[in-house]
Amino acid sequence: PILYVITPTYRRPEQIPELTRLGQTLMHVPKLHWLVADDATSVNQQVVDYLKSIGIPFTYFLTPMPQKYSRRWFGYLPKGVANRNGAMMWLRLHATEGVMYMADDDNTYDLRIFQEIRHTKKVSMFPVGLVTHTGLSTPVLRDGRWVGWFDGWISDRVFPVDMAGFAVSIPFFLSVPEAEMPYIAGYEETGFLNNLHVTIDDIEFLADNCTKIYVWHTHTQKSKASSREILDKKYDGTNLRQLQ
Ligand code: UGA
Ligand code: MN
Repeated sequence: PILYVITPTYRRPEQIPELTRLGQTLMHVPKLHWLVADDATSVNQQVVDYLKSIGIPFTYFLTPMPQKYSRRWFGYLPKGVANRNGAMMWLRLHATEGVMYMADDDNTYDLRIFQEIRHTKKVSMFPVGLVTHTGLSTPVLRDGRWVGWFDGWISDRVFPVDMAGFAVSIPFFLSVPEAEMPYIAGYEETGFLNNLHVTIDDIEFLADNCTKIYVWHTHTQKSKASSREILDKKYDGTNLRQLQ
């Protein structure tokens, strides 16, 4: 089965480094189509050029967050939702078989996770490391059967899982035509799985009965570009002049 990896991304100094790291992981994964969905209103040519250069089959989307959500009323944004819904709209039109996985651009992926999820029948779930203050988000199994959830923020979520902690088969996804991800920060995962009418019986638990961590919710330190701007003015055009 083909693997569709959906990656939301947005312009910032860390964007190309993140996509480099993720892209050079995905280069090792066979039968993969990378859906890179940019939270942008115009094409970022640097991103497209990078995607072309690494030779993975990809589709690049412009999927800006709608204005009404991007105004920061609470400080929490539904990050990556427009991106993922845009890519999923494409899947509904173009995909017939395989499996989809939501891979944020800043996480860290062991290649084994892509082997594990490839044969997902409906929905598969597995642990994610470095999530919240507990450092772990995972289904809890006893004797190979689901008994609950471990996550630093269970709240009232039916599926208190991380975006990187599940995969969905394309036939299952297509069987529920209206299912989208909601624009509700914190409730993207549980909302999407609920919209798919997922029940516990639909879920396969991977990674050796959820005892192995193959994906981590890492964060990249934000670059501080302010002093760089001052120096750029001082040395304006120097290297360029030499190269011409
Ligand atoms: C957490 C969760 O782990 C994500 O699964 C969830 O999507 C996100 O929160 C959320 O708030 O919805 P976190 O690490 O805090 O993730 O968020 P980011 O990594 O900053 O963003 C998630 C994805 O959306 C990334 O792939 C990022 O490139 C993208 N993004 C972020 C945008 O497309 N636009 C933005 O303005 C911010
Ligand atoms: Mn992240």
